[in-house]
Amino acid sequence: MNSKQIDQTGNTESAQISGNLTRRDFLRLGLVAVGAIVVGRVAPVLAGGKPPTTTTRYPLRIPPATSPNNFSLIAAPSSVDVGGGKYSSVLAYNGYFPGPTFRANAGDSASIQFTNRLSEATTVHWHGMIVPTAADGQPQDLVAPGVNYLYTFPINQRAALNWYHPHPHMATGKHVVLGLAGAFIINDPEESALGLPSGDYEVPLIVRDANFDSAGNLIYNPTSSGYLAKNPMVNGTRDPYLDVDNAVYRFRVLNGASARLFKLALNNGASFTLIGNDGGLLETAVQVSQIEFSPGERLDLLVDFRGLPVGTKVMLQDLKAGWNLLEFRVTRQVTDPYTIPTALSTIAKLSNPANTRSFSFDGMTRINGKEYDMNRIDFQVPFGQTELWRFTTNGNAPHPVHIHGASFQVQSRNGGRNTVFPWERGWKDTVLLNDRETVEILIRFDGFRGRYLIHCHKLEHEDQGMMANFEVV
Ligand code: C2O
Ligand code: CU
Repeated sequence: MNSKQIDQTGNTESAQISGNLTRRDFLRLGLVAVGAIVVGRVAPVLAGGKPPTTTTRYPLRIPPATSPNNFSLIAAPSSVDVGGGKYSSVLAYNGYFPGPTFRANAGDSASIQFTNRLSEATTVHWHGMIVPTAADGQPQDLVAPGVNYLYTFPINQRAALNWYHPHPHMATGKHVVLGLAGAFIINDPEESALGLPSGDYEVPLIVRDANFDSAGNLIYNPTSSGYLAKNPMVNGTRDPYLDVDNAVYRFRVLNGASARLFKLALNNGASFTLIGNDGGLLETAVQVSQIEFSPGERLDLLVDFRGLPVGTKVMLQDLKAGWNLLEFRVTRQVTDPYTIPTALSTIAKLSNPANTRSFSFDGMTRINGKEYDMNRIDFQVPFGQTELWRFTTNGNAPHPVHIHGASFQVQSRNGGRNTVFPWERGWKDTVLLNDRETVEILIRFDGFRGRYLIHCHKLEHEDQGMMANFEVV
């Protein structure tokens, strides 16, 4: 057996782990394994907060971290504790929901031997990673049940939180909602030099919604307009809490929902320090108190718990649904002298597009009037050429527009919300197109030639055909 393999046991907490897992992972897993049930206390009402509630909360699960170099990844049905010892049937990678977090440095390479132990064909797509077509996990490259596929690609891109999930045409929503998703974090020297919070102080947060059947199993019961489920979940944990020191934390946040937008805020009125998004660090840190983000988008947020006495609770909320997502419990007094940097990165601006293309996101199933056809290539883009792409919609939004094969820079949004938000600066691979909006981006494909995709990342729209193939030539 590969030394870095995580055994599939069908039980998250008892899974055997070896390889590059950190001590923290063992501690976290140990914490979950005791099945600690903590009865929530009545939260004080704070500015902008919700009224007091008494909710039993469970320790936030942190997926184990591993190198993507020579790793065996297995998709299979599994049973996992989603909080308080309640086991749910899910689809999981290596028994984990969410899957293991891959961590690599720019310059490394990934070789991931994938085994499909589902009853249906699937793929693994590395969202945000610039990889050759053969490793991109596109719908044309299905991996049949019982079959292995080696995903191998160089990692030549900026530090960022990317992620992986299935991409089989007409079944992406089902496979993702039933549990198949994980984080893929790239680091690089520029980011390391900032000395950002790390180890226990850097926490991935995969935020989504979920429905359960009466036995507590995860289910997928979508509507064509988009799947909006009734319960929030972070890292596969219902009603989670996280014990924190009174220090600065770095949260790597992914909207892993199928269709739901979240508007994040802290209930004590504190701001987030926004430092990055899909494509890595922004040029400068910015304070924001509310952030709206859509499926597929990522946020890199610092939260400063210094100055909060032990015993303080702070709730990460979703202001759109009025949900409590994650309760931070300040449990340990430490001295954290960290100075949050203002200047983060230098980003070369794309400019002077040689060509303009327009994409109309029509209804819930079409781009420029056409439904996805796996065998049709809709357009060709010259390698290395900067282009302006314009996205419009005539309704049925929100449409989170995602592009494979390159990152892009958002130029403008006209109509609707009529602004480019701080979390849309820098590099992106997914941008929210809402009703009445026209969004323009600049993009240049300088990674690989080959076939890539543009699609709506509302997974029901994608599965119904709001997706197109193009070719970088
Ligand atoms: Cu996150 Cu084409 O997908
Ligand atoms: Cu859409």
